[in-house]
Amino acid sequence: MSTAGAGRATPRSAGSVAAYRSLLAIDPEVPVVTLGEGGTPLLHAKRLSARVGAEVWLKVEGANPTGSFKDRGMALAVSKARARGAGVLLCASTGNTSASAAAYAAAAGLRSAVVIPEGHVARGKLAQAVVHGARVVQVRANFDAALAVVRALGERAAVTVVNSVNPDRLEGQKTAAFEVVDELGDAPDLLCIPVGNAGNITAYWRGFRQYREAGRASLVPRLLGVQAVGAAPLVGGGPVPSPETVATAIRIGDPASAGPARDAVGASGGRFVAVTDSAILAAQRELASTEGVFCEPASAASVAGLLAYPPAAGSRVVCVLTGHGLKDPDAVAGEGPLPVVAADLGAVAEAMGVELD
Ligand code: F0G
Repeated sequence: MSTAGAGRATPRSAGSVAAYRSLLAIDPEVPVVTLGEGGTPLLHAKRLSARVGAEVWLKVEGANPTGSFKDRGMALAVSKARARGAGVLLCASTGNTSASAAAYAAAAGLRSAVVIPEGHVARGKLAQAVVHGARVVQVRANFDAALAVVRALGERAAVTVVNSVNPDRLEGQKTAAFEVVDELGDAPDLLCIPVGNAGNITAYWRGFRQYREAGRASLVPRLLGVQAVGAAPLVGGGPVPSPETVATAIRIGDPASAGPARDAVGASGGRFVAVTDSAILAAQRELASTEGVFCEPASAASVAGLLAYPPAAGSRVVCVLTGHGLKDPDAVAGEGPLPVVAADLGAVAEAMGVELD
């Protein structure tokens, strides 16, 4: 359903803002800051499809330049911030937003500062913020408190907040929904998506709605918003003061976009659900070992949600895998010791369990 002026009319490395510029709120003269985000794989998950009796696709957002979907919104937000003369980009983050903000600030020639919850950001994400030159401040609190400080700073200091409370972020993140429809030829019946601060689910909904209104899709999907049991304010119905989950990316108790996300899920005829940490880690393992796709725990929540709430037989489903598994290698430790043997044919063969002839 792709038409002229949208879709892959531009080279992939020009990024998602250039690819969908005519559908996004950005003035024509604003130069785009890009690292080649977007254009991520939409993979048919053969084994998962067979297991749930549906046609399941994986939107692999870990393939973005900094390894998460945040790059789509950051490209648009940083382009517009730079054009307005911003000097310092600021965000609170559970890790991925800070990695993306730091990278796009570097690409734009701007400075960045990030506020993160001490001890609860995955190693890879922290390394990204540091290597891209962000000023990293840890707070003895969770993400919700960090975001409150950042929002207050945004009112009092000469900084541009690039959390998803900045509307340019969600605007840019709509491009993932556009890509899904362009690739499948229509919207799916169901979208399974992890929910933390509730920006991405809101952005997908806006993207799908926009495409249907423009006649580029004949339907909008039902939304299955998936939270972790220990951090499920949208399932429980109210803020969670001390959220806890192995999926640190979505360890959020008071989502900034709770209102629009509730509206989106309601309008779609979908629902919010919660999955346990062990279901999340099992889904992560299953995706990696049976589909060949390594995503971080928060991302696997979408698949854990699908498995816990199976779709109608034969329906077309997209699971959004929001971030790369390499960001959080510690989440897959705990294997027990791996064998170490001499570099000797017999010893290696025996450890592998193969017979020599
Ligand atoms: N998946 C991953 C990998 C994330 O990093 C996030 C959010 C989400 C899902 C949830 O998306 O917040 O739009 O509902 N990460 C933010 C961050 C909070 O700071 O990196 P959401």
